[in-house]
Amino acid sequence: MIEILPNKLFAAITGIGGYIPQNKRSNEDLEKLVDTSNEWIVKRTGIKERRILDQDLATSDMAVRAIQNLIQKYNKNLADVDALIVATSTPDMPMPATANIIAQKLGMTNVWAFDMNAACSGFLYALDMGASLVETGRYKNVLIVGADNISTYVDVYDRSTNILFGDGAGVVWLEPSNEGGIMDAYLRSNGDGREYLHIEGGGTQYPMSDDNNNALEKRYLKQDGKTVFKHAVQSMTDACQTVLKRNNLTINDVNWLVPHQANQRIIDAVGRALDIPEGRALSNIEYLGNTIAATIPLCIWENIKQIKTGDLVMLTAFGAGFSWGASLFKWMI
Ligand code: ACO
Repeated sequence: MIEILPNKLFAAITGIGGYIPQNKRSNEDLEKLVDTSNEWIVKRTGIKERRILDQDLATSDMAVRAIQNLIQKYNKNLADVDALIVATSTPDMPMPATANIIAQKLGMTNVWAFDMNAACSGFLYALDMGASLVETGRYKNVLIVGADNISTYVDVYDRSTNILFGDGAGVVWLEPSNEGGIMDAYLRSNGDGREYLHIEGGGTQYPMSDDNNNALEKRYLKQDGKTVFKHAVQSMTDACQTVLKRNNLTINDVNWLVPHQANQRIIDAVGRALDIPEGRALSNIEYLGNTIAATIPLCIWENIKQIKTGDLVMLTAFGAGFSWGASLFKWMI
C-alpha cells in the first residue's frame, strides 16, 4: 500500500477543458473511400464518426481552444500558470515545442513549457509529471494538455487505420491541495513493441528530405491491429490491478474507470477483466474515435456531469512504444 504521509501535498485537478474540430468523417464517408461498411466498423470498433482538423490548423490551435474553454468555465487566470506540459505525438513542428507555440498564442511568454511524447499514454505520463511538480510545493498551477492532430498521419485509403483515428485536445489544471488529488500512477514502456505500431517517416532515421528510403510512404501510421489489441487489453488490466493492489483497494472502490479510447471492444474487454460494475467504464469513442493523447481528458470532459466531488477515478492507457499505465485520483471539483 502507498503510504500517505501526514500533511502530504496532493496535486488536484481544479479545471478541465476540451476542444473537438467541427469537421466530421463518418463511416459512410469511409465507405466511399475503401472497401468497408458502417456495420463492420461499428461492430468491430464501436466508432461511428471522428473529427478531422482543418488542414490550415495545427495541434497547437486545438490546444489553445481547449485551454480557453477551461479558463472560461473555471474562471482561471493564465498569468498564474507556472508550467505547461503538452503530451503529443503530432507536434506542430520538430522545434520549438508545441507547448511554446501554445503558450505564445495565449500570451504566456514567461512560462516553463515543454512537450512530451508517449503516444496514447502521453496524457497519463504528463499528468504524473505535472503532479510531481505540484507535490514539490514549488509549482502551484500546472496545465496538462493532451492534443493530437493524428489525421495528418493517417492514410485515408488504408482501412486498417482510417476507421480508428480522429483529432482533438483536452486539458486539466493542477493545483496543490491538502484534501486529495492524484494518489498514484504506474507507468511503463517496452520498446520491443515499436514494430507493431509506429509512424517511421519524418524523423532522423527516415528524413522526408531523403528520397532513397521511401520516407514518403513511411509518413503514415502503421499497426498490427491484432497484436496491439491483445497487448492493450493485457497491459491496461495489469496496470489497473497493480494500482488497486498497492493502494489496498478493489475495483468496487473505484467510481469511474476512464480507459484510453482506442476501440470499444478493448474498453469492454478491460472492464470485463477487471470485473468493473456495469456503466462505470466511461466511453466517448462512438463520435470521436481514437484521438491519441486527447482521449482521456476528452472522455472526462464529456462525462463531467456524472463525476461527483470525492469520487475515485482510475485512468488507464496503452499506446505506441509500447507504453502503458494507470493512475488514480480523487475528483476534487
Ligand atoms: N472494413 C471491413 N473489413 C475489414 C476492415 C475494415 N475496415 N479491416 C479489416 N477487415 C477484414 C479483414 O480483411 C478480415 O477479413 P478476413 O477474415 O476475410 O481475412 C476481417 O475483417 C477481420 O480483420 P482483423 O484485422 O482480424 O479485424 P479486427 O477484429 O482485429 O479489427 C482493428 C481490426 C479494428 C484494427 C482491431 O484490431 C483494433 O482495434 N486493434 C487495436 C488498434 C489500436 O488500438 N491502435 C491504436 C493504439 S493507441 C496508439 O498509441 C496509437
